[in-house]
Amino acid sequence: MVAALSVSNLSVSAGRDAPLLNQLSFDLAAGERVGLIGASGCGKSLTAAALCGLLRPPLQLLEGTVQLDSREVLALPPTEWRNIRGRQIFQIFQSPGTALSPARRIGPQLTETARIARVVDEQTITKALEKVSLDQEVLKLFPYQLSGGMKQRVLIAMALILRPRILIADEPTTGLDVLTEREILAAINDMVDETGAALLFISHDLRAVREVANRTLVMQDGQLVEDTHVSDLDNSNAPAAKSLAEAAMKLGSTC
Ligand SMILES: Nc1ncnc2c1ncn2[C@@H]1O[C@H](COP(=O)(O)OP(=O)(O)O)[C@@H](O)[C@H]1O
Ligand SMILES: [Mg+2]
Repeated sequence: MVAALSVSNLSVSAGRDAPLLNQLSFDLAAGERVGLIGASGCGKSLTAAALCGLLRPPLQLLEGTVQLDSREVLALPPTEWRNIRGRQIFQIFQSPGTALSPARRIGPQLTETARIARVVDEQTITKALEKVSLDQEVLKLFPYQLSGGMKQRVLIAMALILRPRILIADEPTTGLDVLTEREILAAINDMVDETGAALLFISHDLRAVREVANRTLVMQDGQLVEDTHVSDLDNSNAPAAKSLAEAAMKLGSTC
């Protein structure tokens, strides 16, 4: 089967010292849900940036390939990337505010998303908001009038409209309260169910990864050190996997 995303020997540096990403290789099948987990600073967000064609100086590609549906995309010029980001690969971030235009109401922003997605059904935006449990009133509001959880829901609604092949969620619930976290994770699960997108869910928190992913990649110092079923992580010999499993266990016992 052709992978929806295929990463091979991806290495990135900031122009000095050791590479920040070192020979990453992994595939995502269509509809697969994969966690990318590792300690802060190990290179998770950098991986997401590379996969979305967002490496900017001083970051530079040392080697590697990234294929979306068998098409090599890493070396494409920024103009081409504009057609890929959104419909083929869509990213939601820890700070959803940065992905929304601060000076525009949510309505026009979702209309623009629908235009990019070339949807013709006029109910698409209404339905997407319903799916993420947002009131239609939100269309009249500016991003600053929304809570962090609501902004994250708007981004998930955008993903529902765009129906990307790959959804990258980079720490989407970090900083949210536990209840909101649960709801956002459920909304991401529903979005992936409905669209059949492959999910790369990035987190330093194994508990969150367990809610959405079944396979997990573990990263340490810019390298992938484990690729395993999430339930087998506790038995992993990789130090990074062990410490993340222990941290999750401690948090679990204090919650
Ligand atoms: N634009 C940049 N320029 C130089 N170094 C960077 C840049 N972005 C990230 N890094 C470095 O790359 C490493 C990985 O960062 P990041 O991918 O953000 O980690 P995380 O796993 O917490 O998401 C860190 O050492 C960080 O300082
Ligand atoms: Mg990060």
